[in-house]
Amino acid sequence: MKITLSAIKADVGSVGGHNKPSQRLTQAIKDHVENEGKKKGLLIDYKVFTAGDDNFIIMSHTKGVDYPDIHKLAWDAFVKGTQVAKEQGLYGAGQDLLKTAFSGNVRGMGPSSAEMEFEERPSEPFIVFMCDKTDPGVFNYPLYRGFADPFHNAGLILAPEMDAGFEYTVMDVNYTEADKVITLKVPEEQYQLGVLLRDPEHYVIESIHSRATKDQAAVVSTSRLHNIAGKYTGKDDPVAIVRSQKMFPSTGEILSPYATAHYVVGDNRGSHNIALMPCKLGSIISYFDGPAIVTAAGICIHNGIMTEAIDLFDQPFWDYVRNKAAEKSYGLREQGFFGSAMAPMEELEYTGVMETLAKLDKKFTVREKK
Ligand code: 13P
Ligand code: 13P
Ligand code: MG
Ligand code: MG
Repeated sequence: MKITLSAIKADVGSVGGHNKPSQRLTQAIKDHVENEGKKKGLLIDYKVFTAGDDNFIIMSHTKGVDYPDIHKLAWDAFVKGTQVAKEQGLYGAGQDLLKTAFSGNVRGMGPSSAEMEFEERPSEPFIVFMCDKTDPGVFNYPLYRGFADPFHNAGLILAPEMDAGFEYTVMDVNYTEADKVITLKVPEEQYQLGVLLRDPEHYVIESIHSRATKDQAAVVSTSRLHNIAGKYTGKDDPVAIVRSQKMFPSTGEILSPYATAHYVVGDNRGSHNIALMPCKLGSIISYFDGPAIVTAAGICIHNGIMTEAIDLFDQPFWDYVRNKAAEKSYGLREQGFFGSAMAPMEELEYTGVMETLAKLDKKFTVREKK
């Protein structure tokens, strides 16, 4: 059976500052998806999660990717969530709804989507990764290492199904006229892929396919909000869907690179470097409006119906990684805003720092040469 998984997410308001949506807000989103999506037969199944202050709707259906009614369902659910946010006085009500009227697809409107259509295998395990306080380039490092590096993907050595390697589609997210993408084959073009992926604010993995079977393994939401709004309106807080096992890496191999707690851009005001902390599902945000978090739901799907989600970072091993992430993050935070503690200038260009620089520029004087 051919099935589509659609993950559509948005931040439409939260309790505290940018910490966590209220229960009523998330319930309003669920109610809308249940009544207008599942009960009306548009969806086969759905789940709603939160990570930090973002809401993630995971839907299964047979309509294919970019189907307007599916996107409208999610958009309207976020509008309902926004109404609750306003009623309750939540912070940042409607934050990610950057346009007033829906026009066919959430992309370019604020919410982000990651969608994949595939022929269901007899056993179809997949992982939904959901982040807060960071941008979609967060997945470059773990998707590179989890698929292309035998230090994490031992299956590249042990499992013949992956001998042919993988094909990565990478998007230049700074190009805003249309989707600008390149496809690179691993292992032959692994070093060229590395050249792009080292700059995760500019080049973002959009998808990965098996070269042996052509099956799609992964999809990432690639929206950069500052490219839509032209200024800082909040972080992108991406979602990714990754299928696992058989012709793909095992679930454990896909999770393995997250033990690095790699440094990403995000955290407080979206403007700092911070170590990514793998957290339990539904985690809140706290220290320095961070740290940047990733959560992971493990699910199996059959005939479009999803099992319960298991919480893949709710296991004692990840306590060690969380402590390590806190230590790595604090190492940078002690340095405040100096040098590499803050995000690169290209990211800060969307913040108020540019206005101050413009004012100061007028006060600069050029000394005459003697
Ligand atoms: P099982 O023998 O438990 O199925 O595990 C196989 C495997 O490859 C785990 O990575
Ligand atoms: P969000 O993008 O998660 O709303 O965070 C915004 C922010 O600036 C936190 O300091
Ligand atoms: Mg927010
Ligand atoms: Mg957020």
